[in-house]
Amino acid sequence: MQLNTLRDLADSIADTRIQDLFAKGSDRAKAFSATTGDLLFDYSKTQIDEKIRSALIHLCDRANLAARREAMFTGEKINETEGRAVLHTALRNLDGGAVEVDGEDVMPGVLATLQRMRVFAEEVRGGTISGSGGSFTDVVNIGIGGSDLGPVMATHALAPYHDGPRLHYVSNVDGAHIADTLRELDPARTLVIVASKTFTTIETMTNARTARAWMLDGGGDPARQFAAVSSAVDKTGNFGIPEDRVFGFADWVGGRYSVWGPVGLPVMIAVGSNAFDAFLRGGQAMDLHFRSAEWTENMPVMLALVGIWHRQVLNYASRAVLPYDQRLLRLPAYFQQLEMESNGKSVAMDGSVLTVPSGPVVWGEPGTNGQHAFYQLIHQGTDVIPCEFMVAAEGHEPELAHHHRLLLANCLAQSEALMCGRSLDEARTRMAEKGLHGGELERQARHRVFPGNRPSTTLIYPKLTPFVLGQIIALYEHRVFVEGVLLSINSFDQWGVELGKELATSLGPIVDGDVGTENKDGSTAALVSYALRHRG
Ligand code: F6P
Repeated sequence: MQLNTLRDLADSIADTRIQDLFAKGSDRAKAFSATTGDLLFDYSKTQIDEKIRSALIHLCDRANLAARREAMFTGEKINETEGRAVLHTALRNLDGGAVEVDGEDVMPGVLATLQRMRVFAEEVRGGTISGSGGSFTDVVNIGIGGSDLGPVMATHALAPYHDGPRLHYVSNVDGAHIADTLRELDPARTLVIVASKTFTTIETMTNARTARAWMLDGGGDPARQFAAVSSAVDKTGNFGIPEDRVFGFADWVGGRYSVWGPVGLPVMIAVGSNAFDAFLRGGQAMDLHFRSAEWTENMPVMLALVGIWHRQVLNYASRAVLPYDQRLLRLPAYFQQLEMESNGKSVAMDGSVLTVPSGPVVWGEPGTNGQHAFYQLIHQGTDVIPCEFMVAAEGHEPELAHHHRLLLANCLAQSEALMCGRSLDEARTRMAEKGLHGGELERQARHRVFPGNRPSTTLIYPKLTPFVLGQIIALYEHRVFVEGVLLSINSFDQWGVELGKELATSLGPIVDGDVGTENKDGSTAALVSYALRHRG
């Protein structure tokens, strides 16, 4: 990626305050925002001006973004290190026509699986499919990473639509997770969904075996109370899950992009197939927009370019995702996997070493909670952390509209505060008003200065409906894709997770005490020795 022009532009505007850009442009808020459907993405509270935006857009053309985008949508094997197509978009291509991989249309298979999911979900919800003790009261999804974060996030997000059985998620191999989850449940009225793309992930398979034993012990019937979601359908049979309870998906759906298909089954059971369809339609609407809109009007492209500007040009190491929407409490964790597993790479597609920083650290918490925790550093710390705010125009609780107005006011106040800050003179005036003077006024005033000029974007939507959630998730997926193309990296593999998995496997017998620590480093050996000494 050639960033010289952009770095020169960054130098030339180093002293420009974002707020002054509003005075220059006629309608900066409109000119530096993108809309699609009812969504508005405002990036006017950044230092990006016309020249910078043109230079950023030039990157898209240099990287052949249009061709790469078509390659993804049309099933080319753009995941080159795994030799796979990347077609999570096909899972929401409800009426969009054929999509071919290796000359074969994948849509009939996708739609047939979706229909099987709908029938299964509705039968579980209606009680036609039940456990040995009667209709299902609870569903436990066992999965990790992409087989967990998407459905967890969506289940929280769509709570107002949740009218099916209670849902629980077990991901961690820490026995505490499954023990605490199963403790209150009836083994004869619980459905367990084992979700694993590979059906080999050690955490998931360990939890699945524990759940099966719990069910058998408690009088449940695993043969009728287990279902599986996987692209390794041969392995699900070996686990004892009947074929008609297995929902498969192809290897061209990456784990972190899989919530749209069978991995979303628990969400469908919770909210019903109509609401799930609306979620898919939201994703599909974002696909259509991404595929057709001009770069400046293209929301995922502009979101990506803002990301490139902050990370690769200005070198800000992290970005905060700050949903002012309590039901999006797991969205930052979901985006963390989506972005960091996709773009946390230091080797380009052609094997060369990346010469620019990789994707940023992504983190966050819902507002207003974060305000009372870490916003101090965002406002007055020495690092600049670009913030991505999200907020709905209205909530789901009309009787609590005054809460929502406060929420919205807080969200808008934060982006305004970050941009405008408070000068030393303003702080002095305030201290004088409080009756301070002399050295004490000066000392106190300095602590009350906000540098301002800190960038943020805001995504605002009417209300968090299934359709809007679909739009938001697809927006970020495409943002990650665009950033990956501009960085020339493969956003769809995740080799960086392998080494830890291999070492954990080799450490198993050592931690069991069956094998010695001779081949381990001194630190690891000492920690193993401590654990062996201290366990009962
Ligand atoms: O370890 C990383 C990872 O492979 C993720 O990419 C994936 O989402 C997760 O593990 C779970 O994998 P699986 O669905 O195959 O169990």
